[in-house]
Amino acid sequence: MSHFKGFYKKTYLERLHILQELPNLSEKTQHTLQEKCSLSYETANTIIENFFHVYGIPMGIVPNILIDGNIFHAPLATEEPSVIAAANFGAQLITRSGGFTTISHQRIMIGQIALYHVNNIDNTIHKLMLHKDDLIKDANLAYPSIVKRGGGAKDLRVECKYSLDNTAFLIVYLLVDTQEAMGANILNTMLEAITPKIEKLSHAPALMSILSNYATESLISVSCQIPCALLAKGEHTSGNTVRDHIILAYQLATADVYRATTHNKGIMNGISAVVLATGNDTRAIEAGAHAYASHTGTYFPLTTWSKTENGDLKGSITLPLPIGFVGGSISIHPSAQMAQNLSQTTSAKELSSLIASIGLAQNFSALRALVTDGIQKGHMALQLKSLALTVGAELHEIEPLIQQLKQEKNINQEIAKNYLEKLRQNI
Ligand code: HMG
Repeated sequence: MSHFKGFYKKTYLERLHILQELPNLSEKTQHTLQEKCSLSYETANTIIENFFHVYGIPMGIVPNILIDGNIFHAPLATEEPSVIAAANFGAQLITRSGGFTTISHQRIMIGQIALYHVNNIDNTIHKLMLHKDDLIKDANLAYPSIVKRGGGAKDLRVECKYSLDNTAFLIVYLLVDTQEAMGANILNTMLEAITPKIEKLSHAPALMSILSNYATESLISVSCQIPCALLAKGEHTSGNTVRDHIILAYQLATADVYRATTHNKGIMNGISAVVLATGNDTRAIEAGAHAYASHTGTYFPLTTWSKTENGDLKGSITLPLPIGFVGGSISIHPSAQMAQNLSQTTSAKELSSLIASIGLAQNFSALRALVTDGIQKGHMALQLKSLALTVGAELHEIEPLIQQLKQEKNINQEIAKNYLEKLRQNI
């Protein structure tokens, strides 16, 4: 799509016009695109409690991303400068290198019913497993609409787990295919429906019945491969050096949890921004992602970087992404509906491939910046606008102030304030 060339250098109105020309946009999307604030106070008042204000977060887009042979556009809602530039840089380079490939994909949600004061653990497990089919049937009777759509409860497992003070919990895990929904309501309804029968069978009380955000059966893996020739940075840093240093940066994150946490924070810069823009639950995705980062017992990076036989840089990401394509705030929030429509994704599977790809692109760009120029050069260049506003610059003062600040080696609020004062005194 050549009209996206230099998209970020265009004016706001030019960008809007290009987006309006995208195929398959609904009338509602066209309408929302034109509005300056899309969530009305009336709607906002129905979404949360004690409502008094709508908090604005800027939304940008990373266009033209090649994933599994199709082009998608990633909407990102974020307050942090340079996140979208980094995602854009990584996504465009990877698209030019052949794009992102989804390696594997599952979409099953897990819920749990925790029993305590269980007398005979082994007998109870045996008894519950004898009634497994009935329990699955009852769960499906509690939510027939998801069964009609081809989903529903598929499996049930029982395990005993011990707390720090050695209390035994017998936990019944219900595995449910939630189709296009994230599935919190589906799971919780099913779990609560079968809890009394499970209590009766086990002669033990249930402490709670709730969906788990550790969605280990909703994993997605995406990979990419970048030729070394595209990695060179300026005249002095060869593609081989950038590749090897990105791999070293990944190794560092496997060696040190302080680094792994920041590595994963960079990934979540992109992931959470698309999750938020598309009306999904950022807290659920972040909790699941960080728990998954520890699934080996050590907190590890969510991405891997290595060298292929022909010397390319290969990257991959795996994480749980139990996002929804219908339901929740997606059906209420006009910005979420618009973001989903602009992305050109048509299913939860496509949307999760897009989200994982943005996470991988974001990580690639952050590592490349860290092992070449350092983070401040690219990040600060884009943060200057925010800094100018922070020190009180009026709109017409922002550009001249940025030009002055670009000449400084070390930039901080004090220096920005001084320049602003000088600018105002015409010095
Ligand atoms: P560069 O090589 O100096 O940029 O990188 P460039 O001016 O040569 O532009 C290269 C390409 O970047 C452009 O190509 C665009 O694709 C894109 P072109 O289209 O011109 O041929 N690009 C932009 N896209 C949209 N808007 C823009 C823009 N500017 C460039 N304004 C860049 C500059 C910012 C990309 C690079 O320095 C970078 O990726 N930095 C990383 C920034 C980052 O990660 N920010 C997040 C905040 S820091 C953090 O929270 C995470 C971290 O701690 C994670 C970690 O430690 O792992 C870093």
